[in-house]
Amino acid sequence: MPDELSMPHIQRAAEVLASSKRLLVLAGAGLSADAGVSTFRGHGGIWGNVDPEELASLQGFEKNPDRVWEWYRQRRMEIAMVEPHEGQRSLAMLEKYAAKSTSVLVATTNEDDLLERAGVEDVIHLHGSLFNTACSAHCGWSICDDGDNSWSLRDCPRCGQPVRPGSVWFGEALPESALARLEAFDADACLLVGSSSLVQPIAAIPPEMVLAHLPVVEINIEETPFSDSATFHLHGRASHILPALVDHITSSVVREQGTAVFRKRTVVGDHE
Ligand code: APR
Repeated sequence: MPDELSMPHIQRAAEVLASSKRLLVLAGAGLSADAGVSTFRGHGGIWGNVDPEELASLQGFEKNPDRVWEWYRQRRMEIAMVEPHEGQRSLAMLEKYAAKSTSVLVATTNEDDLLERAGVEDVIHLHGSLFNTACSAHCGWSICDDGDNSWSLRDCPRCGQPVRPGSVWFGEALPESALARLEAFDADACLLVGSSSLVQPIAAIPPEMVLAHLPVVEINIEETPFSDSATFHLHGRASHILPALVDHITSSVVREQGTAVFRKRTVVGDHE
């Protein structure tokens, strides 16, 4: 039986996560891969075909903004054409039905909107959003441009400078508000899904948690530099493992709520 279907292993990992009070879900490109979105590294990864310096850096943008925008519009279109998968939908269940004593915070380095479309209500985008268009001169103007890319074709309406994709590029700082929310959340457990564990500063979070004796469950189709330190490494695809894992974590809450609804209906029925 392949590793990824080892239910006792998944169940033990679920029990550890279910007993946390503040569970941080950290998702990387591997989470979106099963929806048909290319990852950045590894076989068929985006950075194997295009140069990140050219397309994901301020220098690349200043050199050739049209080339960068062309690539971003194409990525926006690619994302708009795919649907969230079962693993992403299960994270919406986790957000809603983790035990009352467990808060869940979902954060991702992915720029796509698949988690929102899967029903996750609160998603922290640590590397920005693919559908945001922002002022390249940092005047503070930005807008969600998910309809027809129309904002990407104009200059900044506030200061007249060219606009750029609202992504966090190499060499740039992550949004302060996003980092502040992570810090304030003060996670006591982490579910790390589909991340190469190579890109700082986010890659430092899971090892720091393990050093602090806090559990981290990793889901990945490969071994990463973090795998040996993980409390549990669940080997397999996010779309296969997440639904089973989340089911274990949420089943008692879902059952309880189902029973409560059933009781309510019975009482109403008794009065009729
Ligand atoms: N299920 C689980 N994991 C998967 C799957 C899958 N179906 N498919 C791929 N993976 C794993 C890969 O084994 C790899 O470890 O997901 C990881 C993807 O790695 P990257 O492509 O490097 O993505 P990520 O780690 O999220 O990159 C971080 O790098 O270039 C920047 O800004 C970009 O946000 C991105 C950041």
